[in-house]
Amino acid sequence: MSELRIAGGKKLFGKISVSGAKNAILPILGAAAATDGKVTIYNCPDITDVYTSAEIIKELGGNVLFEDGIMYIDSMGINKTSISANTASKMRSSITFCGGLLGRFKEVSFPIPGGCVLGDRPIDLHIDGFKALSAEVFSDESGFTAKGRLKGTDIHLRYPSVGATQNIMTAACFADGKTVIYNPSKEPETKDLADFLNMCGAKINTKSDKIEVEGVGNLSGCFYSVIPDRIEAGTYLFAAAMTGGKITLEGITATELGEVYNVLLKAGCELKSSENSITLKSSGILSPIDKITVSPYPGFPTDLQPQLTSLLSLAKGKSIIEETVFNGRNRHINELNKMGANISEDSSFIINGVPSLHGAEAQCHDLRGGAALTIAALAAKGTSIIKDPEYIFRGYENFVEKLKSLGADIEYYS
Ligand code: UD1
Repeated sequence: MSELRIAGGKKLFGKISVSGAKNAILPILGAAAATDGKVTIYNCPDITDVYTSAEIIKELGGNVLFEDGIMYIDSMGINKTSISANTASKMRSSITFCGGLLGRFKEVSFPIPGGCVLGDRPIDLHIDGFKALSAEVFSDESGFTAKGRLKGTDIHLRYPSVGATQNIMTAACFADGKTVIYNPSKEPETKDLADFLNMCGAKINTKSDKIEVEGVGNLSGCFYSVIPDRIEAGTYLFAAAMTGGKITLEGITATELGEVYNVLLKAGCELKSSENSITLKSSGILSPIDKITVSPYPGFPTDLQPQLTSLLSLAKGKSIIEETVFNGRNRHINELNKMGANISEDSSFIINGVPSLHGAEAQCHDLRGGAALTIAALAAKGTSIIKDPEYIFRGYENFVEKLKSLGADIEYYS
């Protein structure tokens, strides 16, 4: 059984670069399958979810080469329109291929998705979006098939789902006429996908409350560089804050960090932001945060909620986190309590800060939860064993190496 072994209590010091954003590259790779040219993507993170996406492109009939952080994709040979159950079960975001394939080939089939277990993860908004674009959709418990020539229309999302917005936006590039998506995802990764699609010849206009897509019929290749990973950046900043260290992250700014930057200030950290870096200094004494609601962008991101839970478990007082995005994103709570945290749950997480955490054996259940356990272990007294860290490698490039370079005592045993 694989594990991370962490001797906690070392303050993190040093400088690391932020990798390309997982949540940007995955939908971009999905949309790249809809182009009929060659796509070159720079700053592509070396994470297992990227390999799964590359696998899907190959299964569909395309070619992929990933070298030195550059992903070369040739989608011209794609001749299949169904995602295999094997790859879909590895990664829920494989659904991100559907909008593009439906647009380009007028047909797509998708089995029920897999990925992290984060409570209910329905795909009704994706399917409703395809139907609104005039696709015929047949679905049962094993998956769905969508077919037909798409027509532009107005779509009002009842919830600003990231994946549904991205799939509808990509599909709409191939529709006849104009599509307007109201109440869309405003995440920077959605904007990054729009920028990528525009480089491929799309006509997408992202506004504050809607996204307008003018159908263009086909997408060509392009060169594109992915935005930095604000979630990865936040994770390392939280780790430094908890251990009382000082680190500099290169390749990201305060603006890109958004609400996370404010939360770190509220927690009592010193932050300095320059044009291309952020430096955090922490005394190790952290202030609690009365109440923080996790919500779609520009709110505090759900992908940093578990790591924030770790951080606040060491704050001097009581904090409350309300997770409104994923109802099942709570499996780190029990594991953090094994390390001496005092967290209880009703409709929110109630975190009574403790003076210190202690080493323990803890189980990763999902990607971000695993990252949260790791940063707690880095700050804890004694040795921790984090089981099944492969969840973490789905989304963090060189996770162990980056932490080691900051002085962490961490080893991976496969
Ligand atoms: C994306 C991110 C994920 C992040 C999440 C929220 C990628 C690859 N993944 O996931 O890391 O945690 O955004 O920021 O970018 N929902 C429905 N019906 C649907 C779709 C979603 O009810 O058809 C609900 C979900 O159950 C969930 C909420 O909407 O409660 C948010 O999901 P969504 O924004 O779609 O997240 P993902 O795109 O899956």
